[in-house]
Amino acid sequence: MSAPHGINPNVPHSARVYDYWLGGKDNFEADRQVAEQTMAAVPGVRESARNNRAFLGRAVRHLTQLGVRQFLDLGTGIPSQGNTHEVAQAEAPEARVVYVDNDPIVMSHARALLTSTPEGKTTYIEADARDPRSILDHPEVRETLDFTKPIALVMVAILMHISDEDDPPGLVKAFTDAIPSGSYLVLSHLTLDFLPKNVADDYLATTRNQAMHRTPRTGEQIARYFDGFDLVEPGLVAVSEWGDTPLFPDSATWMYGGVGRKR
Ligand SMILES: C[S@@+](CC[C@H](N)C(=O)[O-])C[C@H]1O[C@@H](n2cnc3c(N)ncnc32)[C@H](O)[C@@H]1O
Repeated sequence: MSAPHGINPNVPHSARVYDYWLGGKDNFEADRQVAEQTMAAVPGVRESARNNRAFLGRAVRHLTQLGVRQFLDLGTGIPSQGNTHEVAQAEAPEARVVYVDNDPIVMSHARALLTSTPEGKTTYIEADARDPRSILDHPEVRETLDFTKPIALVMVAILMHISDEDDPPGLVKAFTDAIPSGSYLVLSHLTLDFLPKNVADDYLATTRNQAMHRTPRTGEQIARYFDGFDLVEPGLVAVSEWGDTPLFPDSATWMYGGVGRKR
């Protein structure tokens, strides 16, 4: 494919590498190289990406069934099967969803993300999650979501792309402070906790020099993002363990996932 305006196809990007693992076509040679290199070095990465995507769908469906009607989806990704608004609006056509991503390639697919039911609403904005105010104060966000009613903040497989210098716990707090009690946080994150040490070491050696940033974090670090929230069952677990039957139950686990309710 040719690169949309504003995209350098020679620099691998998380949205496109993940798209490749999910079986999508919106990726370039540089993305495929990182994806293949990582898959060749360590087991189960592609399956874990798919388990992560399934976790997103299960969590959104679960919250919609609990009555949540508003979703702020940070780090949306390239549209794939089971986008947040499709899952939510299948349960509740009046559900309202704001999508946010900082990769211009996602914007080039925004039309696919904006196919709302007439009763509901979807909005897409290109913004950086490292600047919460640019999102929380954005007029389209304020028009779409009512911050006096529960909102599900969806941060699925995004924080691992944000380095410690950018203070991920502080960013999560900025967003969770803006949503009322009874709101939810849906979060998944890359981890090496479940892996044998040699696999974890191979992963770190393989990714160290890749031009795409990822910070794996421990369960303890990830649990802290849920400060002020009560984790719903089954807690913070491997994404494949959250909800129904896992997609790839036997593959190596690379991601934690959890859903919390704000006190
Ligand atoms: C691995 S994909 C996850 C997509 C989707 N949430 C899912 O789990 O299926 C990570 C997404 O986060 C986006 N992202 C990374 N850093 C970001 C930032 N600072 N602000 C907004 N989006 C970001 C990437 O562009 C990419 O689309």
